[in-house]
Amino acid sequence: MADGPSFCQRVVQVVFEYDTPRIVHIKNKKVGLINRLIQLGIIGYIIGWVFVYKKGYQDFGDIVSSVSTKLKGVAYPNRTDIGDLNRVWDIAGLVVPPQQRDGFFIMTNMIITPDQHQTTCAEAPWIGGNVSCTDTDTSNCPAGHVELTGNGMFTGKCANFSSEVQTCEIQGWCPVEQQDNPPSPAVLEDAKEFTILLKNTISFPLFNFTKRNILDDYDPGYLKNCRFNNSDPVDKYCPIIRLDTMVKEANQNFTALAEQGGIMGIFIVWDCNLDLHYNHCLPHYSFRRIDRTDSHFSVGYNFRLGMSL
Ligand SMILES: *[C@@H]1O[C@H](CO)[C@@H](O)[C@H](O)[C@H]1NC(C)=O
Ligand SMILES: *[C@@H]1O[C@H](CO)[C@@H](O)[C@H](O)[C@H]1NC(C)=O
Ligand SMILES: *[C@@H]1O[C@H](CO)[C@@H](O)[C@H](O)[C@H]1NC(C)=O
Ligand SMILES: *[C@@H]1O[C@H](CO)[C@@H](O)[C@H](O)[C@H]1NC(C)=O
Ligand SMILES: *[C@@H]1O[C@H](CO)[C@@H](O)[C@H](O)[C@H]1NC(C)=O
Ligand SMILES: *[C@@H]1O[C@H](CO)[C@@H](O)[C@H](O)[C@H]1NC(C)=O
Repeated sequence: MADGPSFCQRVVQVVFEYDTPRIVHIKNKKVGLINRLIQLGIIGYIIGWVFVYKKGYQDFGDIVSSVSTKLKGVAYPNRTDIGDLNRVWDIAGLVVPPQQRDGFFIMTNMIITPDQHQTTCAEAPWIGGNVSCTDTDTSNCPAGHVELTGNGMFTGKCANFSSEVQTCEIQGWCPVEQQDNPPSPAVLEDAKEFTILLKNTISFPLFNFTKRNILDDYDPGYLKNCRFNNSDPVDKYCPIIRLDTMVKEANQNFTALAEQGGIMGIFIVWDCNLDLHYNHCLPHYSFRRIDRTDSHFSVGYNFRLGMSL
């Protein structure tokens, strides 16, 4: 058997024990100063950083937000090189679809294929596959075949695309669309004058706080005629924004953007300290282009749309 206290004895020793730290007063300026400095540091950190700077005593609430937009403007291209498109365009024709969730599309340029009907015509020679043929050799044009990148279904015949070029005949919307070469400058470059009215209502449900970006303390007369201007102390809260201003604020070139299309982001930041007065809770607007422009292929933004003009 081993010597020394048994397990039971050790337990008894530990239970009937009392510890207390001993306080030592050190009367030394250097040590005292260091001690006070450490205390000051801790107090300074809690009051200065945690409470005052980081507002650690405050609660942070989620934001609930709704946005709607309304566009205004009329454009007249006044050009001779665009035929039928030289007409007066308004928002009802340019904003497609009329309402969208959290966004809007505005047409600035277009390539129109007028007077299309469901009939037969020659396929465009620039589509993906080989569609060349002659009246006697129609081996590239099997009847009923649908070319994925094409405009319709082959009829099995050969047709004159132009006086020199013969291509497979298709059934579909004829004549086929022209080659993808958007007019330059954009048909509706005037759209830069258009305005958007942004209506944004936010609430912090945790604090029963609701506010609109159309500020109630502004005169309705002012709100009707103002234009957003980020460098003006009053106009930077104006909810009516010219497209031109928006694009400039994002450091983009409207002429180029209008030609190829693009996607712009509108950011409204509400960073509110509700300890302050209601009027201090204000929106901050910023704009960025959010599609990439440094690619060589398929830049910009576009889509096809069937419409009756
Ligand atoms: C259209 O352009 C022509 C020639 O530049 C000009 O004389 C005419 O005033 C313009 N019309 C409008 C409505 O701007
Ligand atoms: C397309 O097809 C025609 C006839 O079959 C042929 O003569 C021609 O070389 C082909 N062209 C290409 C680019 O493959
Ligand atoms: C196609 O063009 C050729 C030569 O230009 C001509 O002889 C022929 O009649 C034309 N075919 C049709 C269907 O127009
Ligand atoms: C929220 O605020 C409104 C108006 O300021 C007030 O009428 C309402 O009683 C408040 N609700 C709560 C739950 O505090
Ligand atoms: C925007 O506001 C600044 C400062 O008030 C002013 O100098 C500038 O001309 C304004 N810009 C426009 C486009 O109105
Ligand atoms: C904007 O783009 C157009 C067309 O790409 C160009 O001609 C024009 O010089 C550009 N303007 C500026 C200010 O960069």
